[in-house]
Amino acid sequence: MPGLDDALRGRLLFGGDYNPEQWPEDVLDEDVRLMREAGVNLATVGVFSWATLEPRPGAREFGWLDRVMDALDAAGIGVCLATPTASPPPWLGARHPETLPRDEHGGVVWYGSRNHFCASSAAYREHAARITTDLARRYGDHPALRLWHVNNEYGTACWCDETAAHFRRWLRARHHDLAGLNAAWGTAFWSQRYDSWDEILPPRRAQYLGNPTQALDFRRFTSDALLECYQAERDIVAAHSPGVPVTSNQMPLFPGLDGWRWAEEQDVVSVDVYPDPAVDWRDPAGPAHGALVADLTRSQAGGRWLLMEQAASAVNFRPVNVPKPPGVLRQWSLQAVARGADGVCFFQWRASRQGSEKYHSAMLPHAGPASRGFARVRELGADLERLSGLVGTPVADAGIAVLHDWPAWWAGQQPGRPSASVDYRELLSGWHHALWRRNLPTDLARPDADLGRYRMVVAPHLPLLDDAALARLVDFVHGGGTLVCGFFTGVTDADDRVRPGGLAPALRSLLGLATVHEWWPLPDGAALTLDDGTRAGLWSEDVDVADAEVLARYADGELAGGPAVTRARRGAGSAWYLTTLPRPEALAALLARAAEAAGVAPTLPGLPDGVEAVRRGPALFLLNHTTEPVTVLLPSPRTDLLTGRVHQDGITLARRGAAVLTPTK
Ligand code: GLA
Repeated sequence: MPGLDDALRGRLLFGGDYNPEQWPEDVLDEDVRLMREAGVNLATVGVFSWATLEPRPGAREFGWLDRVMDALDAAGIGVCLATPTASPPPWLGARHPETLPRDEHGGVVWYGSRNHFCASSAAYREHAARITTDLARRYGDHPALRLWHVNNEYGTACWCDETAAHFRRWLRARHHDLAGLNAAWGTAFWSQRYDSWDEILPPRRAQYLGNPTQALDFRRFTSDALLECYQAERDIVAAHSPGVPVTSNQMPLFPGLDGWRWAEEQDVVSVDVYPDPAVDWRDPAGPAHGALVADLTRSQAGGRWLLMEQAASAVNFRPVNVPKPPGVLRQWSLQAVARGADGVCFFQWRASRQGSEKYHSAMLPHAGPASRGFARVRELGADLERLSGLVGTPVADAGIAVLHDWPAWWAGQQPGRPSASVDYRELLSGWHHALWRRNLPTDLARPDADLGRYRMVVAPHLPLLDDAALARLVDFVHGGGTLVCGFFTGVTDADDRVRPGGLAPALRSLLGLATVHEWWPLPDGAALTLDDGTRAGLWSEDVDVADAEVLARYADGELAGGPAVTRARRGAGSAWYLTTLPRPEALAALLARAAEAAGVAPTLPGLPDGVEAVRRGPALFLLNHTTEPVTVLLPSPRTDLLTGRVHQDGITLARRGAAVLTPTK
């Protein structure tokens, strides 16, 4: 199977989405010249070009793309060629309205934007396959072709009738017969029993709360239905270009697709990194978010990955779009490389003059090649060139895995839970951030993975845990590992059915608990104090321990005197349980304590807050995310690959400064 190495030519990939169909043809020469000047070696072409390639049904306009492919090739710039299927032309929706998605209310999601296709629509799939086949036939052996880019950020869900029929087929495969489905969904509740397959629908808008397992299965189905679309196009392009890897760029931490399953189907795992819409560039959580997305993508990929898109400066989807201050672009790009990216690319090469993203930044901004923005892009290209020696090298092994699972996320988002303030994504980010602050190297892992290579595993929030995952956790701890579980872990099974006693028996005995009497979420803003002085919030639980030690108790509130943090020893292993959420600093201290006990050391001890250290291959990356200079002591002389300078026993990093240090020869 081809992989990322087949797309590299000894250099980190550097480039961006290139949409020449938006420009007069004579811009091509200037683009190619400026790309070379900036060190660009990969252009992602054709992402939204369906209507240009096929302006009317069956027509083919390949001439412009021939010229683009040839010009890029002549300049030594590789092409990541996209199938254009993320944005069907208006004629498809007009002639085949069944290709358009419908929302939960049955309303049509019209063309005029993008991603307006129903993954279950036979007409959509047929037209997508035709244009993909012709594209692959024409360019499958083009010398510029380095990577296939299928569709773009899959994620559209649909509730139409054709989807309903597809959903039923999917449900038959999962539950076999109606009795199985009724049992799994608990349809005895509220008289929801299905008597015939034809009665079953996607979870459309209903009068009050819908069936949670129906919603969970629909999430699984939607991810699988979109995956079928990807697989179909992947198989077409792969058949025409053996040895060329295939990817589909994902949104980071996106709830709509099961990222573990998707990663298994891709030759190269790629991701688009725009921080959470709630996080501004200047937010202190920004770098931690980048680290989380990088760690997740690397873990999905099983190693190296590709940053397919980031913004050169401002985006256009926040209420106020503040540009990236000087240094941030470089810093965040280096962070991705440190954490395993073998390429750093952008949306997009040249800023659009029209369309809904005309105020989104680009590598080549509206201000042109003489702008400060373009200078930063060129500098980044030069920095990446200096790091070519790191291509293909692995990120240092992580001692810690953070467990993350999409079905648990889906179950954890359902309405009708004990607390709507408990947010899966915030808990995952919060725990990862706590480890990041202490420079503890982490992977992410699915809970049913073999966890044997880690010393410590943390489960920030897995309300749903299936039997296979439970068995893995038990094996891990009995094999000598340290497990740290957040509150409300392992409450439900794969069908989101509450386990007898409210907690999986295998987990209860692993954690050394007797009874979880009641979950006791806290009102928003309420805080608790533990008897070790820790402040905590969001949640608490009324539990009795069996043979666990109590490390901290509630010092106030309704549960005063009750266990808050527990640890059960199991041979050389141990299982910790947090019945509440410590404040960030306290959570970081607690996880650092567990890591130390588990024998996991930080990449560099004693770094000031906001300074990140990551090892990749022979290099130690140091990233100062703060706006003050910092000095870091070095155990032996090191050479900075970015400057060529040798540092004897310490290095001072400027504000937002970085160094990539290797042992000095
Ligand atoms: C996504 C898309 C791009 C563009 C950017 C803007 O990542 O893939 O086409 O819309 O967002 O940030």
